[in-house]
Amino acid sequence: SNAVVPAIINVDVEGPVISRHLYGHFAEHLGRCIYGGFYVGEDSDLPNAGGIRLDVVDALRALNIPNLRWPGGCFADEYHWMDGIGPKDQRPSMVNTHWGNVEENNHFGTHEFMALCELLGAEPYISGNVGSGTVKEMSDWVEYLTREGDSPMVRLRKANGRDKPWRVRFWGLGNETWGCGGNMTAQHYADEARRYGTYCRDHGDNKLYRIAAGANTDDYAWTETLMKTLGSLGCAYRPQPFYQALSLHYYTVPGTWQDKGDATVFDTGDYYATMVQAARIDELLTGHSNVMDCYDPGKKVGLVLDEWGTWWNVEPGTNPGFLYQQNTLRDALVAGLHFDVFHRHADRLVMANIAQTVNVLQAMILTDPDCGALVLTPTYHVFEMNKGHQDAASLRVDVPSGVPAREVGPARLETVSVSASRKDGRVLVSMSNLDAAEAVDVELDLRGGTVADVRSRILTAEKLQAHNTPETPGAVAPRPHEQVTATATGLRVHLPAHSFVTVEARLA
Ligand code: AHR
Repeated sequence: SNAVVPAIINVDVEGPVISRHLYGHFAEHLGRCIYGGFYVGEDSDLPNAGGIRLDVVDALRALNIPNLRWPGGCFADEYHWMDGIGPKDQRPSMVNTHWGNVEENNHFGTHEFMALCELLGAEPYISGNVGSGTVKEMSDWVEYLTREGDSPMVRLRKANGRDKPWRVRFWGLGNETWGCGGNMTAQHYADEARRYGTYCRDHGDNKLYRIAAGANTDDYAWTETLMKTLGSLGCAYRPQPFYQALSLHYYTVPGTWQDKGDATVFDTGDYYATMVQAARIDELLTGHSNVMDCYDPGKKVGLVLDEWGTWWNVEPGTNPGFLYQQNTLRDALVAGLHFDVFHRHADRLVMANIAQTVNVLQAMILTDPDCGALVLTPTYHVFEMNKGHQDAASLRVDVPSGVPAREVGPARLETVSVSASRKDGRVLVSMSNLDAAEAVDVELDLRGGTVADVRSRILTAEKLQAHNTPETPGAVAPRPHEQVTATATGLRVHLPAHSFVTVEARLA
């Protein structure tokens, strides 16, 4: 018999809404994310729409992707958008100095990205160039995309075949400006963010949500500088601040940056070390939120975690600049843990973007460079199983007896993680058992509602190293979970070792 963990959820006490944008994505001109991932060109034998791979689009549509960040990452701060419009054979090429030193032909540009967003049903999140661009260049891009009527940029857009403006809300003012985006000091960048924010105009009723390039990991001083320099949070002269949100980047890297560890070859010690690093996201979101609270107790300014996920050594034999890695059950558990934490921070955290959607870092989809075969990763399945949390009201989960934990070196890892939400008369509970060896039962005490029926699914495998390949695409895939039983006060859910389980309960 295994441990039993009681968890109380008051299903009639709704907390802050979990924005669907916490399930956002990121696509950079990096390795095979865009070229060979999302985009194969019109001449490809693979089914495509204007060069965009349709099997990739179909698979991602099942995730209800709310937004897609593009074109970087570090690439954003050397991207010049005007090189990516007009006839493809006339677009100048450039060297992608950050990622593999390869030539970028600019065949995937603004129009192709907006078409991709339309196919996915996702909102665009454009990351503008502060590092090597100009204020005018960024301001023109906003005008090109969003202005109606007649203007120089509107005429250019129309000449390139698009009459109507697009709607673009999310706008990044540079990326990692403390590093690859210009190596600026916090104060210098904060002043630049005010300047760029000023000239990124709202055209007509298109209202930009400007996101300043925020801190890395636990650089709370960076966040504080951006908050101090933000400008008015509501005066008559300028009702809006210069930027409406700050970003944050945090990657799960249990090794060193020189040797991050392998994606598929690891032992139980490496696994627990990974989970300790993943769990740090709670400490980091709490810390940055606390700093923001000092300047903005009304929580008007959003926190945007626009890069997160695991970062391993690249797969043997692949280009080190392409960041191609496999994805195992361990990655799926990292994702599930992050989402539980995100749900608890729904009052300040307005968006999160996993890095990156296809073929790069903690991807949803891996495509074979030779035959084009497409594989859904274990992480994909967590996004799919959790999609019911999008725009649902968060529900607090209390574990009165304390959450089981393990000592991992000097750290303590809580091995059971639970989060819940309510939408349209349904309660969705996500649960992870992070213990590598021991099963556990979670006894859900669901107060304030009666369960009419239940659907449960489980994602697990015999080994933590299990992953999907073109030959074994379903090695890690969700299955119906039968080990859920009704109790006098709710449901008892069995969680095998290293498993992720969702329970969807329709209320009477
Ligand atoms: O996602 C890969 C890279 O990680 C991004 O380009 C950069 O912003 C971060 O350092």
